[in-house]
Amino acid sequence: MRFTSAFTGLALSAVTQALCPYAEQALRDPELMKRHLKSDNLNKETPKEKRQSGPGNIPFTTFNENQLIDVTGKYAWVAPGPGDIRGPCPGLNALANHGYFPHNGIVPLAVGASATEKVYGLAPNFGIPLTVYATLVDGNVLGDTWSIGGRQPLDLTSPVIGAGDGLSGSHNKYESDASPGRGDYHLYNGDVSSLRVAKFQALYDLQADAEVPNYDLDVLIQHRQYTFDQSISTNPYFYFAPFAGIAVSNAAHTFIPALMSNHSAEYPNGILDKETLKSFFAITEADDGTLSWQPGHERIPDNWYRRPLGVVNEYSPESFAQDFLQIAAVVPEAASVGGNTGTVNSFTGVDLGNITGGAYDTTALLNPTTFVCYFYQLTLAVVPDFLRSEALGSLLGTALTLLQSEISPYVDPSCAKIGNYNDSFTAEFPGAAVGKP
Ligand code: HEM
Repeated sequence: MRFTSAFTGLALSAVTQALCPYAEQALRDPELMKRHLKSDNLNKETPKEKRQSGPGNIPFTTFNENQLIDVTGKYAWVAPGPGDIRGPCPGLNALANHGYFPHNGIVPLAVGASATEKVYGLAPNFGIPLTVYATLVDGNVLGDTWSIGGRQPLDLTSPVIGAGDGLSGSHNKYESDASPGRGDYHLYNGDVSSLRVAKFQALYDLQADAEVPNYDLDVLIQHRQYTFDQSISTNPYFYFAPFAGIAVSNAAHTFIPALMSNHSAEYPNGILDKETLKSFFAITEADDGTLSWQPGHERIPDNWYRRPLGVVNEYSPESFAQDFLQIAAVVPEAASVGGNTGTVNSFTGVDLGNITGGAYDTTALLNPTTFVCYFYQLTLAVVPDFLRSEALGSLLGTALTLLQSEISPYVDPSCAKIGNYNDSFTAEFPGAAVGKP
């Protein structure tokens, strides 16, 4: 395997040095730190619980009954019917099954971010960019709706061009190879939405001997290593894109402990046990231990309590930046843009500086503040690229305005802009061609 990454050797030292804004605030404000250190809950924590926490990995110290998610009445679970769309994201599929999203799987722009915050505690500064990206890259570019799975049906008000292929049709734009549970595009004839039970089993088995099974960040980092190595060694066309790979694929791993864990007074930081994991992934287990997947049957468990809300507690790009650092420390290649070059085990990393016109190089992503800048600035850089490839005509201006108006409020003006996004590097990777013009 040929592997080049500027991360090797640097990652661990950066983890110890980098501080998120909340941790910096805590250092400036001794009272804030004292409040955390005095907490009984903090003292009760086991090392396993520490990772699943708010920005800066400072553990949650509170638990409230109002974290319970209602799965009764209008939010009772209903299986998808023949006309309902489901896709590669278990978190979104579950929202549709429980009526937090429209049951047909076609989501109005505004509902995406509000429901993911209400049910999972995903911060708006994360949920809004994710839904705007979905709307513009694979949804209805007029800003109305996006599909959590395949292409949404056209009606009289849909634009003929720009109605989007949905999350399932967004390979390399949104959906990525090396997912936690879904298969690679080229290995399964483009089916990126079906869960591959063997892959899930690999994750599941990581807690086989645990006294108190908990799929926390440490466990998901082990699985990140597995999923990345598996794509390198089995998929000649494996490709890991600047946004779909570095941001989305890694987030798909961190979202599991961060957003699916069940919180309680006993475990204010949450714990993700086997039953909860299987429920969110639509997996059933037979008496002999055989696992089966029921497509579209993702379910929020009864008595499931999400993480607490509020700026410090919700899962934000800042929280993700901290988790990303932990990943990069153990699996540095997962912080690299690159791919196989047409044969298995030929993974080659690319200099991010060349792609971003010098705005962000690979090592810069190890600073959490810079990583957050990268997340937003890359969105602003790649979405217009994708939109222009769609020949949208007069709709292009509307789409670009929506992008700027929705994303710009979150961007720190001191962030380096990606003025010259250069994707010529993709020529080296045959797997990059899919999902592009
Ligand atoms: C608007 C918000 C969201 C969008 C647009 C979104 C989109 C996506 C996309 C495109 C993928 C495919 C990634 C890949 O191929 O690796 C994905 C996977 C995934 N998402 Fe989401 N997602 C959102 C929110 C959530 C939430 C709230 C959760 C958790 C509760 C979640 C959990 C996951 C997981 C675990 C995967 C990996 C599934 C697998 O590989 O089996 N997502 N999501």
